[in-house]
Amino acid sequence: MSRKLKNILVTGGAGFIGTNFIYYLFRKTNFTGRIINVDLLTYAGNLESLEAVEAEYGTGGTEGKAGRYVFEHADICDGKRMAKILRQYDIDTVVHFAAESHVDRSILGPEAFLRTNVTGTFTLLEAVRAYWTDKDGKFRDDVLFHHISTDEVYGSLGKEGYFKETTPYSPRSPYSASKASSDHLLMAYHHTYGLPVTLSNCSNNYGPFQFPEKLIPLMILNMQQGKPLPVYGDGKFIRDWLYVEDHNSAVWMIMNKGRTGEKYNIGGENEWENIRLLEKLIEIVASQTGKSVDSLKKLITYVKDRPGHDRRYAIDCSKLKSELGWKQAHTFEEGLQNTVEWYLNHNDWISHIRNGEYTKWLENNYQNR
Ligand code: NAD
Ligand code: TYD
Repeated sequence: MSRKLKNILVTGGAGFIGTNFIYYLFRKTNFTGRIINVDLLTYAGNLESLEAVEAEYGTGGTEGKAGRYVFEHADICDGKRMAKILRQYDIDTVVHFAAESHVDRSILGPEAFLRTNVTGTFTLLEAVRAYWTDKDGKFRDDVLFHHISTDEVYGSLGKEGYFKETTPYSPRSPYSASKASSDHLLMAYHHTYGLPVTLSNCSNNYGPFQFPEKLIPLMILNMQQGKPLPVYGDGKFIRDWLYVEDHNSAVWMIMNKGRTGEKYNIGGENEWENIRLLEKLIEIVASQTGKSVDSLKKLITYVKDRPGHDRRYAIDCSKLKSELGWKQAHTFEEGLQNTVEWYLNHNDWISHIRNGEYTKWLENNYQNR
């Protein structure tokens, strides 16, 4: 049986995966409800990514579809504001993407990670608990809080083995520790108060709209500009890569049909050593730009390792596949080709997000409602 998801609050919808999720829902599914995108627009958020959605589905959008998409500039740590938004739009579903998401930044400055990932998640949970319960503290039966998390909560693998849903948590960076805390809070609200929740832990995503501090977009853009390609440590760290739309199709499937109170791992079954992945990317960038493979390989620069760098992540997603019938729709080759093409053709988006232009524009123009 499928849930009736009507008025969906998407947190962090102006970031990488949230933006792709909003496009996915409007363009690739039969969703007929409304999306309220709540985002603080930190350095990682860019409303420009959603201009096409705003034009078609925003309040001033194309007739007939207008009003199915609303943006609210807000901080998830602001409990009063969250309560107001829940009421104002009669929210029945939350899908919680908003987070500080980059491991290197969490090493340099962990505080923002605790604030948004832990306090922010707690604040949202409290807001829905107040809004979705009756006077006896009983939850409405048409509500759902889906929390987006990462495989990094499980820690680091050796050469063998996979992360399963039952693998004990062992986070090793301030980022993964803050995400682990948010997962625990979610499950605590389910077990203690009966909040209807689902949780997903996904491996590394790649695709359009990713902030170019993460491995794949950073390398593509450095190749385009002839800059060094910084490889941490010996380059033999392993990640399991998944195209962002395939992550979102899994999230949507879990939100619709996943068992309440359950967690599901999502992964690409696609492990690559960083250095091998970089060589693959070099071939694709060379073929799309006409640059020579040799000239791009000369840019590879081994640099000092990230402190506490997790050696290997690999996901066992058999529960998601066997219970819900999920499968990936994109091969790695296809996904990488699309991604390289997208970054090579979106120079304005890249310069705007890198210069924090939307944040500056907001500071000057946006009326906080
Ligand atoms: P991102 O950094 O690209 O986007 C995060 C978004 O959250 C931004 O738009 C930012 O403005 C917003 N935000 C930050 N603090 C906020 C606050 N206090 N209030 C409201 N909005 C705020 O991140 P992403 O890569 O899209 O990741 C989204 C989620 O997916 C995160 O929870 C992350 O942990 C998880 N995840 C990411 C990956 C990956 O490979 N990127 C893999 C697995 C899970
Ligand atoms: P990243 O994209 O930061 O994701 P995560 O650390 O969350 O997995 O990094 C992916 C891998 O690439 C990770 O092993 C660190 C490595 N890496 C580099 O070697 N060089 C870089 O410049 C970056 C950003 C990452």
